Amino acid sequence: MWYSFGMVMKTRSRAAPVAPREANGDAAGALGRLLKPLDPSHDQPLYLQVQRVLRTAIEQRAIGHEDALPPERDLAADLAVSRITVRKAIDGLVKEGLLVSRRGSGNFVRARVEKNFAMLTSFSEDMRARGRTPRSTWLRRSEGTVTPEEALVLRLSPGTPVFRFHRLRFADDAPMSVEYVTIVAGCLPSMAAVEDSIYAALERVGNRPVRALQRLRALLLSDAHAQLLEAREGDAGLLVERIGFLHDGRAVEFAQSYYRGDTYDFVAELSVP
Ligand code: GLP
Repeated sequence: MWYSFGMVMKTRSRAAPVAPREANGDAAGALGRLLKPLDPSHDQPLYLQVQRVLRTAIEQRAIGHEDALPPERDLAADLAVSRITVRKAIDGLVKEGLLVSRRGSGNFVRARVEKNFAMLTSFSEDMRARGRTPRSTWLRRSEGTVTPEEALVLRLSPGTPVFRFHRLRFADDAPMSVEYVTIVAGCLPSMAAVEDSIYAALERVGNRPVRALQRLRALLLSDAHAQLLEAREGDAGLLVERIGFLHDGRAVEFAQSYYRGDTYDFVAELSVP
C-alpha cells in the first residue's frame, strides 16, 4: 500500500512541510492497514463504509491535514469497491466539509488550524505563522457610540465613540471566521486607519492590546454564519470572545469571532499554579 501514501506525500500543499517517507512509516503503515477490502455483505452501504475508513484515516492522522487523498482509482482498488462508490463517499465528505475538492488536483483533507489559546496574537499573524495567507472581505464597517452591552464589557460611559469592523476572514481561500470587532475610537486615528489588520493599525499608534480576557463557547452555527463559512446551519461552531486591554488597564477592543468547529483546534499550555 505504500504507493497510496507516496501519493499523499507528493501532493502535499506548500503549507505543510514534506517529511521524509521513513519518518512517516507509522502513518504509511496505518493507512495501509485501513485501506483493506470492505465487506459487501455488511449491513451498512459500501459508500458509508468507505466514508468510515476515510474518517478514521484522517482522525488517526494516517492522512494528514491538507494532504491529498490517494487517487479514486487506487482507493477503489484497495477497498475493492467501484469508483462510483468511492466518488459517492468522497462527495458526501466534501459536502460535510471534511474534504475539499480542487479541480484538476484532487481531494484534500481540510486543514485545521492549531491556535495557542494563551497567545495574544492577531488572526493575520496566526495565519502567516502557519504559512497561510490571511485575507478578509469587509461585511460592514461603521462608527457610532457604544451599545449598552459594549459599554458594560469595555467599561465605558454611555455615548463613548467606537468603530465597528465586521469581516469574513480567510486563510488562503478557505473561510475561517466571521468576526465582529468594536474598537474604542480614541485608540485609532480614524476608521480608515484599518486596512488588512486591526492589530497592525493599533500597533502603529502604540495602542495594541497587551493583555486580554478570552472566552470560548461551543455553539451551533446560525444559517447566516453557516452560509458565510460554507458550512450548514446547525453545524458545530465556536464563538471566541476577546476583550483586549492597554498597559494602563483601559479596554481597547471587544471581539466576537465565530469559527467553523472543524477548522480550529484551540490548545493551551497548562502549568501547576
Ligand atoms: C483575532 C482576535 C481578535 C482580533 C483579531 C485581529 O481574530 N480574536 O480579537 O481583533 O485577531 O486580527 P487582525 O489584526 O488580523 O485584523
